[in-house]
Amino acid sequence: MNKTTAKAEYGYDAWLRYRSIEPGERREEFNRFSGIVVEGTDEPLAHTAARELSRGLSGMLGREVSVLEHAGDAPCFVLGRLGRSPIIDGMFPEGEASLGLGREGYALRHEPGSGRIAIGADSDAGLLYGAFDVLRRIGTGQSLKGLNIVERPVNGLRMLNQWDNMDGSIERGYAGSSIFYEKNRFTQNLERLRDYARLLASTGINAIAINNVNVHRIETELITEALLPEVAKVAEIFRMYGIKLFLSINYAAPLEIGGLSTADPLEPEVAAWWRERAAEIYRTIPDFGGFLVKADSENRPGPFTYGRDHADGANMLAEALEPYGGLVIWRCFVYNCKQDWRDRKTDRARAAYDHFVPLDGRFKENVILQVKNGPIDFQVREPVSPLLGAMPLTNQMIEFQVTQEYTGQQHHVCYLVPQWKEVLDFDSHLKGEGSTVKRIVDGTLHASRYSGFAAVSNIGCDANWTGHLLAQANLYGYGRLAWNPELSAEGIADEWIRLVFGSDERVIQVIRGILMDSWSIYEKYTAPLGIGFMVNPNHHYGPNVDGYEYSMWGTYHFADCRGIGVDRTIATGTGYTSQYAEPNQSRYETLETCPDELLLFFHHVPYTHVLQSGKTVIQHIYDTHFEGVEQAGKLAELWAGLSGLIEEPLHRQVAERLAEQAEHAKEWRDQINTYFYRKSGIPDQQGRRMY
Ligand code: GCU
Repeated sequence: MNKTTAKAEYGYDAWLRYRSIEPGERREEFNRFSGIVVEGTDEPLAHTAARELSRGLSGMLGREVSVLEHAGDAPCFVLGRLGRSPIIDGMFPEGEASLGLGREGYALRHEPGSGRIAIGADSDAGLLYGAFDVLRRIGTGQSLKGLNIVERPVNGLRMLNQWDNMDGSIERGYAGSSIFYEKNRFTQNLERLRDYARLLASTGINAIAINNVNVHRIETELITEALLPEVAKVAEIFRMYGIKLFLSINYAAPLEIGGLSTADPLEPEVAAWWRERAAEIYRTIPDFGGFLVKADSENRPGPFTYGRDHADGANMLAEALEPYGGLVIWRCFVYNCKQDWRDRKTDRARAAYDHFVPLDGRFKENVILQVKNGPIDFQVREPVSPLLGAMPLTNQMIEFQVTQEYTGQQHHVCYLVPQWKEVLDFDSHLKGEGSTVKRIVDGTLHASRYSGFAAVSNIGCDANWTGHLLAQANLYGYGRLAWNPELSAEGIADEWIRLVFGSDERVIQVIRGILMDSWSIYEKYTAPLGIGFMVNPNHHYGPNVDGYEYSMWGTYHFADCRGIGVDRTIATGTGYTSQYAEPNQSRYETLETCPDELLLFFHHVPYTHVLQSGKTVIQHIYDTHFEGVEQAGKLAELWAGLSGLIEEPLHRQVAERLAEQAEHAKEWRDQINTYFYRKSGIPDQQGRRMY
């Protein structure tokens, strides 16, 4: 087995496998193409696009489809910048003024006469995205005949956050060690980084922060002469794919490595130190994206130490980056992580909003606040963070977690695109009906200068990138959704499956079904009704109902012999519901209208409380846990039915994970059910086994 086949069989090529097209009509359609021509640009990014197109077409057609000097008579693909090439302008006579492709958009057009397919753009990045679009269309079995479309990304920033540490470990990484670092050095395996950049660019990702938001000693030095040349090499790889590089910084860097006695943002010497760092960074990496900052969060240093607030803290950095067009992405994951569990007044869910909303209007133009999708921490079910959109004068972006910290750690299948879609479609009502999260995040609701998506990546050095092969769909889906939040979860799944596994309808249907059901199944056998956590402390894998109940982290369920849930109402609880605009506020505040799936997030109720579904809370817990386990078992059976229809090594690795999931789901079921049976003393109506 040669290297390429081995990689393919383990899933290394992911959705860029460029599987051979079956003989037939489609193959004939594409066989007519003689090659690829680049017009009106000589930029590296345009050449990346042409090379990728050549690689993809060659793979799918089983013959070399090369980049040509000139377009001949035979049909070819023409990639080119508008207004710079007669061929391209001939195919897009309306020009950029009427197409409006902008910084990253592209147009695709089939010219029946010449048989040419044109990829036109007003930027080289647009050409790259256009090339990947063409490949995706062909790879998913579509014809290009009559093609005439215009595409622009809906979101400006489409970013991934690597939580990679230089020692090679990855915080919340479940797919092996880092592909970026090893033993406190940068990797020598630049090919792997390039392949990662290709995967990301093909989904539309355009920004990456390459180190953990928790910045330890050695990573603090990434912004110094010692390590910047290495950072620059990585930046160059990602630049070739239209992806800007960001670094997470340590707010205390002036103290820890700068020889200063303070990191106070209002101290002129501190500001000068950062300005100097910025100058050095931009000398080495002229298109550096900026800083990602976790400050005053979970014991990380920040402006609070000096009696300053987040605006003071962020603006000082923003000033340093401003001359170069750099951004400060400031995370809002700020809460008291040393809470006394006896204190029933403090509510972690309130924290981000309470900290940041009063600062609206004080952040500089090149600061963006990065807000987690929910108020707690990437649970399987949480309400949408009320901070999103609540600062009309401040740039914001949303943060998702592609890595499955709380959703099965890539040992369980949990396709997260449906969850993200629910968040994006949520109507905040902040400016009346239709004030959806996706409009906050794309910047249109408040006419924000910068906005977009960020997410914690789920990859590592495992052969298939994501540990669980099916978790690739989350990375793929994240990029696709960041490009266009209107895409459907099914549609995205469908694309990913076709690109990885081919066009067998049975295979597509089964895998799509598995993916689409997986979030709900995972939710069923884990923490119920929006209560969250109930996981083992620290590593967060597996059930432990009281794991965090008497801890300082502010994630409690308050279960006793009578009931469970957190009273977050204005009337009798922490008042968290007041952070939502009407009608959401009343909907969550009122027991009768609070949606079942979030009931225990907002209310403390007796086990006998009857849900909108007609079941009592306790019976719901029992039923969903039995059901969830049964369904998890079914997933493994469904997958087994695909044996022989997909490559054996791919089949086997997923079969192993699904078997593990089915077993582990039982552990969840039995611990959760037994716990609540013992607490409540209420038997299961169906008399099923408890312990
Ligand atoms: C979670 C996660 C941490 C991470 C933190 C963050 O709490 O468990 O590992 O550092 O989120 O988002 O900063």
